[in-house]
Amino acid sequence: MNLSDLRLSPSDYRPRPPDGRRYRIGVIGCGSIANAAHFPAYRDFGYEVAACADVDADAAEAARVRWGVPTAGVDPAVVLDDPAVEIVDLAVHAQVRAELWPAIVGAGKPILSQKPFAMSWDAAARMTQAAEAAGVTLMINQQARWAPQHAAIKVLIERGVCGEVFSVAHVRRSFQDHPDRWFAAMPDFNLMDHGIHFVDLLRHFSGRTPDAVTTTSAMMQGQHSVSPMSHTVAMHFDHGGLTAIDHFNNIVQSPAAWSEAWHVDGTEGSITGAPAWVEVTRRDEPERRVRWPIQGRWFPDAFGGSMGELMAALNDGREPLTSAHDNLNSLRIAAASARSAAEHRTVRLEEFVEPGPETFRLL
Ligand SMILES: NC(=O)c1ccc[n+]([C@@H]2O[C@H](COP(=O)([O-])OP(=O)(O)OC[C@H]3O[C@@H](n4cnc5c(N)ncnc54)[C@H](O)[C@@H]3O)[C@@H](O)[C@H]2O)c1
Repeated sequence: MNLSDLRLSPSDYRPRPPDGRRYRIGVIGCGSIANAAHFPAYRDFGYEVAACADVDADAAEAARVRWGVPTAGVDPAVVLDDPAVEIVDLAVHAQVRAELWPAIVGAGKPILSQKPFAMSWDAAARMTQAAEAAGVTLMINQQARWAPQHAAIKVLIERGVCGEVFSVAHVRRSFQDHPDRWFAAMPDFNLMDHGIHFVDLLRHFSGRTPDAVTTTSAMMQGQHSVSPMSHTVAMHFDHGGLTAIDHFNNIVQSPAAWSEAWHVDGTEGSITGAPAWVEVTRRDEPERRVRWPIQGRWFPDAFGGSMGELMAALNDGREPLTSAHDNLNSLRIAAASARSAAEHRTVRLEEFVEPGPETFRLL
């Protein structure tokens, strides 16, 4: 491989609508993320939203007017029972998803659920099993995989620029310690909610799920959030050949210091990725580096990509890339990390086993 011949164009990594049939969407939850990313992405990608619901009548009505949705109401049944709705899109909190789960699954329609699918491993495993038992396709919206800056890294890994990947490292520095927002009151928000994107991406890039994690976290003096907003997750792989680390400091005081970097190292070369660019270096051309600017944005573009993946999976009769079953692995890492940080010990992922069918029937 020669760096001069290496090409990367936006069409290689930008999310796009699926080939073939598109499905009409019903959105439950018309809050921040629905308005900031779901509705705008569906408009940009040409997807049709047939109905929306929010327990807050003003939110439902505002979404109806702003996004031109034919039907809106306060009852999720407005979405679930509408024959025009073919995919149920859940933009409510995990707690609400759990409460509504029997009705949602009972509707029998394919589901795209916001992450984190559930705030506990047990709830996620049980809800996944309920959907499987009902024969309902369930995908978790780990849309960061379709963000242009992440999709570009994945394309380059698949083209073999790194050779055999033996190290993946992620460092993110940002700030979300807002006392007036829901996440300040959510236990383990940084690890279980926002941070699940990054452990999911570590799995996506490396193609592997760790066997154990060692996680440290720290509270900052005077912070508003109930749980630590800074953590480091070190991942252990029993069969060796890979080291992975995620450092997410989400309480960095000065915006001037906010940044993000991915480092993927392999036997033949390395990829460094930032939100605005991606760079490749190779062992056999030690003085050279090739950098491409990234076109497109995570918000809202990636949300059109993840919904497009669910539609493509339905067209192909296959499991979506971030199916609930696949996502249990990312959730298991997040749950193990929270336990590791709380108990100051390395936690093996096998501590989080799926309840068997027998247990499931009893729950
Ligand atoms: N990049 C991402 O993937 C991303 C980013 C932000 C948030 N999220 C996730 O999206 C979810 C929602 O976050 P948000 O910031 O939009 O929250 P939010 O509080 O702004 O919105 C949630 C909405 O759900 C509505 N709701 C509550 N109970 C309901 C019910 N029973 N039926 C219908 N609607 C109901 C609320 O009225 C509110 O409008 C969370 O799980 C969050 O983690 C994901």
